[in-house]
Amino acid sequence: MARIQLAPTPTLEAPQEDSEMSKARKESAKPATSKTASRTRETAESMAARQKDISVSEFFAKNRHLLGFDNPRKALLTTVKEAVDNSLDACEEAGILPNITIVIEDLQPDRPANAKQSRYRVTIVDNGPGIVRKQVENVFGRLLFGSKFHRLKMSRGQQGIGISAAGMYGLITTGKPMVIHTRPGAKKPAHHIELAMNTKTNRAEVTVDDETQNFPPARLRTVNAGTRDPGFLNSEDYITGTSVSIELEGLYRKGRGSVDEFLELTAIANPHARITFVPASRISADDQDELPLGNAEKDATHAVAITQDAAHGAPEAAEAATPNGVDPTLTTIEKDGVVFFPRGTDQLPPETQEIQPHPKGIELGILIQMMRDFEAANKNGGTLFNFLQEKFSRVSPAKAADFCKACGAHSRTKVSDLEPGQIETLFKAFQDAKLPPPPTDCLAPIGVRQMLAGMLKGVKAEFYAASSREPDVYRGRPFQIEAAIAFGGELPTEETARVIRFANRVPLLFQPSACSSFKAVAETGWRNYNLSQPRGSLPNGPIVIMIHMASVWVPFTSESKEAIADYDEIRKEMKLALMECGRKLGAYLRKRQKMQREAARRDVFERYIGEISKAVNAINGTDTKKLYDALLAEARKRTAIADAQLDEEGRTIKKDESDDLKNDEGVVLVESRAAHLAQNEPTEGGSGTSMTESSDENGDVVKLSSKPRKNRKPARNGD
Ligand SMILES: Nc1ncnc2c1ncn2[C@@H]1O[C@H](COP(=O)(O)OP(=O)(O)OP(=O)(O)O)[C@@H](O)[C@H]1O
Ligand SMILES: [Mg+2]
Repeated sequence: MARIQLAPTPTLEAPQEDSEMSKARKESAKPATSKTASRTRETAESMAARQKDISVSEFFAKNRHLLGFDNPRKALLTTVKEAVDNSLDACEEAGILPNITIVIEDLQPDRPANAKQSRYRVTIVDNGPGIVRKQVENVFGRLLFGSKFHRLKMSRGQQGIGISAAGMYGLITTGKPMVIHTRPGAKKPAHHIELAMNTKTNRAEVTVDDETQNFPPARLRTVNAGTRDPGFLNSEDYITGTSVSIELEGLYRKGRGSVDEFLELTAIANPHARITFVPASRISADDQDELPLGNAEKDATHAVAITQDAAHGAPEAAEAATPNGVDPTLTTIEKDGVVFFPRGTDQLPPETQEIQPHPKGIELGILIQMMRDFEAANKNGGTLFNFLQEKFSRVSPAKAADFCKACGAHSRTKVSDLEPGQIETLFKAFQDAKLPPPPTDCLAPIGVRQMLAGMLKGVKAEFYAASSREPDVYRGRPFQIEAAIAFGGELPTEETARVIRFANRVPLLFQPSACSSFKAVAETGWRNYNLSQPRGSLPNGPIVIMIHMASVWVPFTSESKEAIADYDEIRKEMKLALMECGRKLGAYLRKRQKMQREAARRDVFERYIGEISKAVNAINGTDTKKLYDALLAEARKRTAIADAQLDEEGRTIKKDESDDLKNDEGVVLVESRAAHLAQNEPTEGGSGTSMTESSDENGDVVKLSSKPRKNRKPARNGD
């Protein structure tokens, strides 16, 4: 074998190359001659013997961090998240109001206090449509198998990895199979299946397969005192459905990034779901961060029984708001180790339609593959015209004919007869064509009203604003951005804003700075809305910012679905939604400052009015009370005029700016939390505005002015 001779000579460009470096180069050249003599050398043939397929499950078992299983605490959360996402998806697709129960059993309650992880059994039960027997192995024991990947429809899951990855993690860390109970028909027995994934083959190995009437599994009713309540996992609430149990090594801890936070946020974005949570009996004591959103268990109202009625903090007051379908008086309740997030509305999100890809959103390679699939599906040869009509959205017959012409074909030309050059011309014609944007009935945004109801339920602030943008398109895929903010009240004043992010109603808890929404918040000029903001970062102050992206395909930055990729179109829409909320906040804050100033001036007048009335009475006998009232009325008139004219910077305030807020359906004000307002301003409740009024759990006045979203799909069962 030829020896590698390295003889670097200093060049004119690098005369200063130091002698150490050239020595090192010579050294590195040496091993090729001396050390490699004893080394076994591979040949193309010997390497070929070891080149083989890698199963997808082997790959992800090695790279489980890509799926969100990088540490025990996150692994526990990811397991709950994947199962809850699937349950919500399944219920919505079947038109069922979701009832979901999550039970985390601590299997090593006696472990030492400093244990870094523990063994848990996580069970998630839903009242969805169930799963037919023959698909159970595929759904739970095979990565990259699912019903959502190949379609363009909004859903929480999209990859076909989630639940089988959770089962695989459990199997790797404990050696225990997944236990599944599923009842696809109300009158049929449930299937009870236990299975473990073989990572070499990416297929399930079934160890138990029988039929049972035990659904939901009765064992779960014996976990603690709260689970023995007849309202817990009541079989009438779970007529059909699926229960999945996974044993795993994890860590149950509260605070940021915990199961509790995930469920709290899920309840905010999914007010139509009824969620019951049985946390692990033992909680790791350290790292118990206080969340600005509150700790569900701590804030929960202690209930007598876990029933839907018990979830109403103030049932009489609730009636004022219920006609529109959302009840802001619902609170989280807790009883004997069971946390209960009640249903906030009986309206399911609008049913979404599956759409075909938009011509402008596909790539050349995808077009070629689509043509091959079309050929394969049409044995006697499908025409280009039919292909364009059937496989794309927004291609009218006239447009399809235009496209055929553009690539030198006619409408009866078979797809299989197209030359590669013609396909490329067709692809170019797609880009140049004027086409309407994709249809948007494939999206189900949360809606302004429900976002406000969710925020009211989860965040104790004084001012709430929300906005929902019109749908837009990235890479031919429709998406819609919604934003909401909650300000003041009990939120901490000294901290940086908290951003809560959602994609297709799923809370995103990790990798905030990699997420497009985070960048959008930092790029929005919050100083324009009276908040302080260090350059290029989040604003400071008592504010929670919520961003939701609804799309037929959310562009996540990784398989663990933690952050939204930074497409310009997406970030721009996010900023516009935030600016809309920001403007409302700015108007409110200006009004608040104005009222504070007005009150301060009035205080000064009022201090002297009493003295003056007494003095005048002493001089000429005028009635003190009458004079006092007259002077007070005059003082109020004066301060109101003064404030109506100028704001704190001497600018004229548009007279109707705060009136705009009153009529805005995207704004809610909880007056008693804006304590200074409540003291100083006569209540506006009786002023005959269009706002509806009710009381929240603390008896606060809540002003909510919006119409309910129309629902296209009636709920089937549920409860
Ligand atoms: N609780 C359930 N009820 C009914 N069907 C379910 C349930 N859980 C899963 N499925 C079915 O199993 C499929 C696979 O689920 P899995 O979580 O592995 O993937 P996914 O939800 O499609 O995508 P992702 O990997 O993004 O979660 C789903 O597409 C769905 O059809
Ligand atoms: Mg899933």
